[in-house]
Amino acid sequence: MLVAIVGPMFAGKTTELIRRVERYVIAGRRAVVFKPSIDARYDPASVAAHNGLKLNAVVVPPDEGGVKAIYKLGQRYDVVAVDEVQFFPPALADVLNKLADGRVVIAAGLNLDFRGEPFETTARLMAYADRVISLTAVCKICGRPATRTQRLVAGKPAPRDSPRIVVGGVETYEARCRLHHRVN
Ligand code: ADP
Ligand code: TMP
Ligand code: MG
Repeated sequence: MLVAIVGPMFAGKTTELIRRVERYVIAGRRAVVFKPSIDARYDPASVAAHNGLKLNAVVVPPDEGGVKAIYKLGQRYDVVAVDEVQFFPPALADVLNKLADGRVVIAAGLNLDFRGEPFETTARLMAYADRVISLTAVCKICGRPATRTQRLVAGKPAPRDSPRIVVGGVETYEARCRLHHRVN
């Protein structure tokens, strides 16, 4: 079974991934959690949510080598979880789809980048998923459900030509609804 957890930043993707993995561990299943080495927020050896929840993780590089490592090590477990899938190449989705034959795979990732464009690996994962859990955050402007992530530079919308990958949290990003999401 392949479960995809998707949405903007602060939607609770990591919290939901941790919650689901914990339940399988309580049920006595062998579980492993992977995360890309790009994301050193809070703690390099665990997946960490914005609300402080944590789970030990295996850190792998977000490249072809990391995808191979997930495939090789993942085969030894009943439950395989991956956080921040958007940082890995799209081949990760194919590998997780294969691993999902015979085990539970739970993978979480950002739907859209700060420009409002789909992250390819998350999009591919959603297509393969048996179940897509689409979460929303709370728009920082109006309080309605947020489906997008606003990147801010000195309080203003980040320019469209700024780099796609900028690791960060509340100092750089805000959850926004469709109406309040801006790109310069
Ligand atoms: P994600 O992995 O999707 O970024 P996390 O699971 O790390 O989400 O964090 C979710 C937590 O973020 C919420 O439980 C809440 O405490 C906090 N949070 C901060 N800003 C917001 C927001 N704008 N909308 C919803 N939750 C927020
Ligand atoms: P989160 O979904 O767990 O909150 O983490 C998302 C990470 O992705 C965070 O480190 C910021 C980063 N990010 C980018 O690199 N580019 C983007 O366009 C967006 C929206 C987020
Ligand atoms: Mg997260």
